[in-house]
Amino acid sequence: MAERKKVTVPLLIEMKRRGEKIAALTAYDATMGALLDEAGLDLILVGDSAAMVVAGYETTLPMSMEAMLYHTAAVRRGVKQALLVADMPFLSYQVTIEEAVRNAGRFFQEAGAEAVKIEGGAEMAETIRRLTVVGMPVLGHLGLTPQSIRKFGGYVLQGTTEQEAERLLDDAHALEQAGVFGIVLEKVSLEVAKRITEAVSVPTIGIGAGPHCDGQILVTYDMLGLFEKFRPKYVRRYAELARIIRQACTGYVDDVKRGQFPSIEESYTGEQE
Ligand code: KIV
Repeated sequence: MAERKKVTVPLLIEMKRRGEKIAALTAYDATMGALLDEAGLDLILVGDSAAMVVAGYETTLPMSMEAMLYHTAAVRRGVKQALLVADMPFLSYQVTIEEAVRNAGRFFQEAGAEAVKIEGGAEMAETIRRLTVVGMPVLGHLGLTPQSIRKFGGYVLQGTTEQEAERLLDDAHALEQAGVFGIVLEKVSLEVAKRITEAVSVPTIGIGAGPHCDGQILVTYDMLGLFEKFRPKYVRRYAELARIIRQACTGYVDDVKRGQFPSIEESYTGEQE
């Protein structure tokens, strides 16, 4: 197989210009990171969705800087070609620009991230400008921004009125001008996503935002059928791993209980390895 080019921030922008779709997924550990990288992902996001699919919280709000640094450093050890983006957790970038710079810097210095993602529109423009000025690329995130779930009151479709759609468009322009290299669009209609995608020069990466975005991202635990608590309609399941794991583990329990595991072949005899 031909050696894949290392994915960089300028390459992702070039992909939009060429009309080449960007494939992105989330990862939280080195093993999954390596598997996704081998599969040819362009961008791997260490999402704060880890709070829900790994740590078992109801929302992403409890995620800490230390936990995100741990996950990012783990994924870093598995990923070679894809661009590695770390999600900045709730309250790590919203309080002051100074704190945002210090916290973002930790993802680059301590965990090997190549970019950070932050949620929010025009109100985050100054922070984004400062991060990019000091050399830290930022991926924006508009639409259903899960860190604002308490404000939205649930995982509801965003940009549903013309006024809201216009505001999202203005936010996208503000992020672009502030220097983001891309914008995640979460749970907005395909019409709104198309308008934004056509209006900005940086790639849009959709999740529940229809086919017109420049790229797509899903939470890997969702698309592999590992996380079963809820299943939004935009999730296409490429595997049913929860079912496979249950089957495998009940098979194991059964074998152990019946004395069928391990066999002699699976045991050491004398000094033989
Ligand atoms: O945390 C996450 O996994 C995300 C994606 C859903 C884009 O933000």
